[in-house]
Amino acid sequence: MSKPSRRSFLQGAAAVVGGAGVASALPSVPSVHVGGTDELKVGLIGCGGRGSGAANQALSTKGPVRLVAVGDMFQERLNNCVESLGENPDFKGKVDVPADKRFVGFDAVQGVLASECDVVLLATPPHFRPMHFEAAVNAGKHVFFEKPVAVDAPGVRRVLAANEIARQKNLAVVCGLQRHHQNSYVSAMRLVHDGAIGKVLFARCSWNQGGLWVVDRKPEWSDMEWQLRNWLYFTWLSGDHIVEQHVHNIDVANWGLQGHPVKARGMGGRQVRTDAKYGHIFDHHAVQFQYAGGAFCFSECRQIDGCANDVSEHFYGTDGECHLDGGGGAQITGKNPWKWTGPNNDP
Ligand SMILES: NC(=O)c1ccc[n+]([C@@H]2O[C@H](COP(=O)([O-])OP(=O)(O)OC[C@H]3O[C@@H](n4cnc5c(N)ncnc54)[C@H](O)[C@@H]3O)[C@@H](O)[C@H]2O)c1
Repeated sequence: MSKPSRRSFLQGAAAVVGGAGVASALPSVPSVHVGGTDELKVGLIGCGGRGSGAANQALSTKGPVRLVAVGDMFQERLNNCVESLGENPDFKGKVDVPADKRFVGFDAVQGVLASECDVVLLATPPHFRPMHFEAAVNAGKHVFFEKPVAVDAPGVRRVLAANEIARQKNLAVVCGLQRHHQNSYVSAMRLVHDGAIGKVLFARCSWNQGGLWVVDRKPEWSDMEWQLRNWLYFTWLSGDHIVEQHVHNIDVANWGLQGHPVKARGMGGRQVRTDAKYGHIFDHHAVQFQYAGGAFCFSECRQIDGCANDVSEHFYGTDGECHLDGGGGAQITGKNPWKWTGPNNDP
């Protein structure tokens, strides 16, 4: 396996959607050093909690890296992000975003993509992701995009089509489904795939937790501004919490069962979070996903205060069971017992 430079990795890595493909794409990376400097110039679109976090993580990587352009729907969110990154003593000289490289509004994405950035971090509410991803690929940028990559089937198809173009252009694409980069998950999944629990008959997964933040409406806000500032609660923006949050666990179920569901039967509702300020998403869902080989995954997600919390994934096979959670817990019981005892990395 060659050891490409950071730049040649970016130049050479084939596009993938989902973290699993990233590792498998690595061995095929050519070690050709493509001219210029090794510095990676980063653009950020969506300067909220995750976008700021992703920029922070990008700037914390070892090689030379610089944030050169940012975009957000709202000026104050952009300012807060750039200022807090700029105040970090570890990022001296790495936050280089002059006023003409700060873009605000629906077309902020265009400004960032027109900048000199090599790689762009896409961290807006997911409604915009297919459009932003497609535009980024068309602009020849490498992409880190947050999950979920879309909120509906047309959006998913658009992402798949853009990913094909990214592949043809040899652009690197990495998705924020971070369990694919978490040692405990990667190790456990390898064992499950190698037969440690025998034939996997069914799985269950859940993201059950309490309620989340709400931004109180101001009288001067339009409906659009109110919805954008409370995007979690509007299906067109978030896909509902089964897509926005529970995607992590369903993704692990698909990973373990090595496929995608062919059928789903489910129910959900709005039991507690009924006030208009919560938009129109549900507060709980329960779905049975059926896979091609006959396996099932029983999936639950809930955002209701005062109930039992559980964020985890479980696989049940003919020879044992595998139990996983995002905190780094990973265990196999049955014929081939195993427990993850290695260091927990930040995925
Ligand atoms: N992988 C993870 O563990 C993880 C964790 C948290 C969030 N996320 C994902 O990251 C994304 C962002 O979540 P967040 O928690 O940072 O939300 P957030 O509300 O804190 O940030 C979103 C930002 O995007 C901006 N924005 C909205 N529309 C925009 C547009 N069209 N163009 C440019 N900017 C726009 C908003 O003003 C806001 O600043 C979501 O898809 C979420 O699911 C992933």
